[in-house]
Amino acid sequence: MEVWDGEDAVPRDVLLQKVSEIEGLVPAGDRIDAELLNQASRLRVISNFGVGVDNIDISEATRRGIIVGNTPGVLTETTADLAFSLMLAAARRIVEGAEGVKGGRWRNWGPMNLLGVDVHGATLGIIGLGRIGSAVARRGKGFDMKLAYYSRERHTEIENEIGIEFMDLNTLLGECDFLSIHTRLTQETYHLIGEKEFLRMKPNCILVNTSRGAVVDSNALYQALVNHQIAYAALDVTDPEPIPPDHPLLKLDSMLITPHIGSASMATRIKMGSMVAENLFAGLNGEMPPNSVNPEVMLKKTAH
Ligand code: DGY
Repeated sequence: MEVWDGEDAVPRDVLLQKVSEIEGLVPAGDRIDAELLNQASRLRVISNFGVGVDNIDISEATRRGIIVGNTPGVLTETTADLAFSLMLAAARRIVEGAEGVKGGRWRNWGPMNLLGVDVHGATLGIIGLGRIGSAVARRGKGFDMKLAYYSRERHTEIENEIGIEFMDLNTLLGECDFLSIHTRLTQETYHLIGEKEFLRMKPNCILVNTSRGAVVDSNALYQALVNHQIAYAALDVTDPEPIPPDHPLLKLDSMLITPHIGSASMATRIKMGSMVAENLFAGLNGEMPPNSVNPEVMLKKTAH
């Protein structure tokens, strides 16, 4: 077993060189594409450290008979906590206030100082009502928010359970005070929120993204913030990621960015690690991993 324990991602040339020798691989956000798979003649299982598998070319892996595992479920509540934290932090200018105090700029209590906006009573729009989206909606309900969502499919059970209203995307964009994104990154959701969508949003809207950076068009977001088409953006994911230190978005006051820490609690990372190990060892033993995104690979093998 070889472990890359650097803080930064494994350099591409190292990964390309090592991959020819290995049978199991645990990527943590690393790009696993056809070029890399072409070098990986012995590879049988990819056990992704994370639920989102947009870093992996699944159809290329499937074509080569490589099973791919991921970690759904265990990070739902932790990621929803982070999305909601970003929302609260943005609404109440928590980072700005705290940085001021640390920097010796305590602002005296004053009727107009550091005014934010209320979360309670506001309308929370959610894009994607899967596991994490519905966990965020439940938190919104606890905060007495009005809830609405857009998703490819209706989720009537959740609608009835927590009282969240389905809307088409354009209607949702024009209604919400907070918009939280919880959709997977696919060809259909790439730049789902771009110039046209920002034009429909309310000028007080706070955008929260904890899904994947490329669901939002970063250039359009920059323009929307500069032109006050929306009020603020709080992101845990960026495009590109990592965001370069000289990126124009980082110069804006109406922006809060955390470095992809949605699932980063000790308890959740331990659960994810266990799932990763279970998926990996099952795959190496020629068994179906407990969580796989391309089970057809194993089904085909066992049918023979
Ligand atoms: C996930 O699990 O998908 C996290 O975003 C880490 O990539």
